[in-house]
Amino acid sequence: MDDGKRVAAYSMFFLAFFGLYSGFSTVFGQEGEEINPKKLFEYHCATCHGEDGKGTKRGRELKAPNLADPDWQGKRKDEEVLNSIMNGKNKMPRWSDKLKPEEIQALARYVRKLAPKKRP
Ligand code: HEC
Repeated sequence: MDDGKRVAAYSMFFLAFFGLYSGFSTVFGQEGEEINPKKLFEYHCATCHGEDGKGTKRGRELKAPNLADPDWQGKRKDEEVLNSIMNGKNKMPRWSDKLKPEEIQALARYVRKLAPKKRP
């Protein structure tokens, strides 16, 4: 093997190795990326719903319910909460094109935890 070919072979080896390595790290990166529903809620939802779910001035103007009210929680099924976050409802924006399904699931569970336990 002459030097030119040897260099070429080494570069191929490194390219393949780094290709694989970056491939693996993106896969692991995605798996390791944990969903933090509290952060998501504070970032996307608190403008209208408030960090505690009770609703800000803006939210109340748009007729957002008090998500921290156990009576309200009792009137909604899990699927309805999930569906409203995904597809929106009246003035509530839809989130299915901005957030991943796993994030919406996590937010729906988070919304459930905003009220003191009283629902059936
Ligand atoms: C622009 C203001 C606004 C933002 C931002 C917003 N919402 Fe809402 N949300 C509303 C309004 C208004 C309603 C009341 C809809 C209705 O029943 O008419 C509502 C209703 C809801 C409901 C009750 C749905 C039902 O079935 O009655 C849930 C749950 C909810 N929002 C969760 C969220 C989550 C989670 C986010 C963030 C990803 C979010 N909202 C962001 C305004 C907002």
